[in-house]
Amino acid sequence: MQIICTGATGLVGYNFVMAAVKRGHNVLALSETFDFPQTKGVESLKADLADKGKIERVVLDRFPDAIVNCAAISSPAVVDKNAELAHKINVELPERLAQLANHISARIIHLSSDMVFDGAKAPYKNTDMPFPDTLYGTTKLMAEKAVLKHAAPLSVVLRISHVCGMGLKQNRSFNEKLFIAMKDGKKLRLAGNDVKCFEPASRVGELIVELLERPNISGIHHYCGLDALSRYAAAAEICRHFSLEPEKFLVREDLPEAKNLALDMSGLASRIKTPAVPFSETLLEMRVPDSCLEWYERETGLKQIKRYKL
Ligand SMILES: NC(=O)c1ccc[n+]([C@@H]2O[C@H](COP(=O)([O-])OP(=O)(O)OC[C@H]3O[C@@H](n4cnc5c(N)ncnc54)[C@H](OP(=O)(O)O)[C@@H]3O)[C@@H](O)[C@H]2O)c1
Repeated sequence: MQIICTGATGLVGYNFVMAAVKRGHNVLALSETFDFPQTKGVESLKADLADKGKIERVVLDRFPDAIVNCAAISSPAVVDKNAELAHKINVELPERLAQLANHISARIIHLSSDMVFDGAKAPYKNTDMPFPDTLYGTTKLMAEKAVLKHAAPLSVVLRISHVCGMGLKQNRSFNEKLFIAMKDGKKLRLAGNDVKCFEPASRVGELIVELLERPNISGIHHYCGLDALSRYAAAAEICRHFSLEPEKFLVREDLPEAKNLALDMSGLASRIKTPAVPFSETLLEMRVPDSCLEWYERETGLKQIKRYKL
């Protein structure tokens, strides 16, 4: 299958591209500024997709079988600071991609977020009414509507929870950010009353490949880890897994109102072969980022835990 992946250098995009080429697909990996490493089956291209004309030319030139949209302004804080750019990338780009996918009859998978909900009534089913309470969540909801409006039978809107594991840049996932903050000597203040279903990026990547290969699945779906944990609890588990003392690096600081963004993925679970995993397995997908290795060895007297995938 010929696939165009936007946001290919991001946490989810990179894991998807690696899963796709492993299955024998060819991917045009798009990014804005970051280089995608040379990989068999991958052609890389840098383009600012805030410019609508660029994506149009790329899609019509390549006529792919599928489009996977992982490009986003994915940090809620950055969205708040740059609402105009966030609208272009988080809303207008997916809308244009859906129109193009419909035009060329390509399958389109668009990534969305648990943050289309406000956290007051979890666990959330894919049929529950979204109600975002952040600008980031609002852009994600607007994009969902646009994608389904323009490419409903060909599209999957995949809502995911907080992503763990390893990305290309090694600075984006929950565990990578945690390590970088600990190395920088920061004491992290994390809520013990905000619930998420942390999942590994590699599983999300594999699931997107499965969805591309199973065109009978369309519409909005949820995919997440099997355990619902607060950020504080998840960070403490990660510390213990890597023989670090949670009390030394973490402070529990609860939100004024509890926010539970647990997703109910039962609608999709019975139809897919890529199983969701408990947090204990998500931990196995984590490594100490390269930039933190020296610090880690000094701090614990241990070497990086090596994992080999069979
Ligand atoms: N990470 C999470 O915990 C999480 C949770 C729920 C949902 N999601 C959703 O999952 C999707 C992927 O998120 P992620 O965490 O993988 O994102 P990410 O790591 O922040 O990556 C964002 C990607 O978008 C690209 N990009 C940004 N602005 C661009 C522009 N103007 N032109 C072209 N490309 C641009 C970046 O390219 P450069 O690398 O070149 O800058 C990068 O490849 C998003 O839709 C996000 O909302 C993520």
